[in-house]
This record gives sequence, C-alpha cells and structure tokens, in this order.
Amino acid sequence: MSASLETPRLRLRRLVPADESDLLALDSDPDVMRHVGSPAGVKLPEETAERVKRRVLDSGRGDHDGLGFWRVEGRADAAFHGLGALIRMPDGDEVEVAYRLARSAWGRGIATEAAGALVSHAPGALALPRVVAVTYPDNVASQRVLDKLGFERRGLTEYQGVQRPGTSSRARDSPPKELARWSVTSYTPVGRLQGVTQ
Ligand SMILES: CC(C)(COP(=O)(O)OP(=O)(O)OC[C@H]1O[C@@H](n2cnc3c(N)ncnc32)[C@H](O)[C@@H]1OP(=O)(O)O)[C@@H](O)C(=O)NCCC(=O)NCCS
Repeated sequence: MSASLETPRLRLRRLVPADESDLLALDSDPDVMRHVGSPAGVKLPEETAERVKRRVLDSGRGDHDGLGFWRVEGRADAAFHGLGALIRMPDGDEVEVAYRLARSAWGRGIATEAAGALVSHAPGALALPRVVAVTYPDNVASQRVLDKLGFERRGLTEYQGVQRPGTSSRARDSPPKELARWSVTSYTPVGRLQGVTQ
C-alpha cells in the first residue's frame, strides 16, 4: 500500500492520531458538512469524535490497499486542506471516491487534484473496474469536480436510506474508468442508517 500520493501541489497520506484535531474541526464546520453524510450535516460532537478516531485507527491498520481515508495537505508546507477517501458503497462491491475540504482550501482546484489522484493512482482504485461517486443534487461545486474528472451523471439512486440521482461511467483505458452517482434528491429514511460514507 502506498503511504502517500503526490500531485503537483498536494500530498495525500493515511491518517495518524496527530490529525485528529484537524479532522474534528473539518467535520464540525456546518458549511463543510452541508452536503456530506446520510443524512447530511454536522453530527453530534461525540459521534464526530468517534468517527474521527475510527478512521484514524483504520488508517493505522494499513490493510486497506488504498481504500479508506486520506489526509489532503499542501506538498510544500503540509498545511491541512481536507480529506479524500475511497470507500466501499453500502449496496455492493463498488467503491466511491469522496472528498471534503476546509473552507480555506475551496476554490483552488484542490478537490479535483486530490480526487483525481485517488481515482488514478491509489492502489485500491487501480484494481477496480470503476469508481463511483455520489453527490447531493444541489452540491454544484462537487458535481463540477466530478465533471472535470470525467464522471458522467447516471440519474437517481438510493444510497444509505437516501434517494439520490444518477450514475455515470467512463472507460479506464482512457484514463481511469469511472462511474459516478449523483446525489440525493430527497431524504427517505429506510430503516436504520448504517455505516459512514463521508
Ligand atoms: C465541493 C468541494 C470539495 C470543492 O472543492 P474545490 O477544491 O473548491 O473544488 P475545485 O476548485 O477543484 O472545483 C470546484 C468547481 O466548482 C465550481 N463551483 C464552486 N462553487 C460553485 C457553485 N456554487 N456553483 C457552480 N459552480 C461552483 C468552481 O468554479 C470549480 O469549477 P471550475 O474549475 O470550472 O471553475 C468543496 O467545496 C468542499 O469541500 N465542500 C464541502 C464538502 C462537500 O460538499 N464535499 C463533497 C461531497 S459530495
């Protein structure tokens, strides 16, 4: 498993305990979490803390072959920008790419650069026939990131108890083969929400 991925401006690396304060701050920002999670929004502090600790522990186990969460930081200064992730979809074997950045990092192409590195170079992604993505329908910035990466919309689908639009695909032989699902149009609870996606 690669310990880190590098792009012209960024380094993506697995999480360590020292990252916890950055991760807590990220997931406690309502602007960041507005379109993240099922349902979306900031979780209770204890739940946020538990999720952060679990992600750090999972990263430390080093047995994910690229799957899981990656810290996105400046390559030159190691400044924290946010999180990228490759996560198994709740309804099958497909893997989704996910990302969220601190507000200070928005608007500079960082999400596109980071997510592009994950779908193109992460060892877990390289073995996959395709990578999917999901966004909420009103998350235009995230949809634009997926557009720029070559994802295509595929309509509504249900995801962790949430109704969401679409999926799309692109062949790996013309760089990475991807398939993207486009987010939630309405929130429809279906039993107990499970797992952590973003
Ligand atoms: C969504 C998010 C990851 C984008 O990060 P980013 O680094 O700013 O993204 P990029 O700069 O790579 O690309 C964003 C694109 O969306 C565009 N954009 C941003 N806000 C927009 C808006 N409100 N309407 C239309 N386009 C918008 C930008 O102009 C840019 O497109 P361009 O390169 O053609 O100009 C970031 O805003 C974020 O972390 N949001 C909160 C968490 C989140 O929603 N994560 C995604 C969950 S699916």
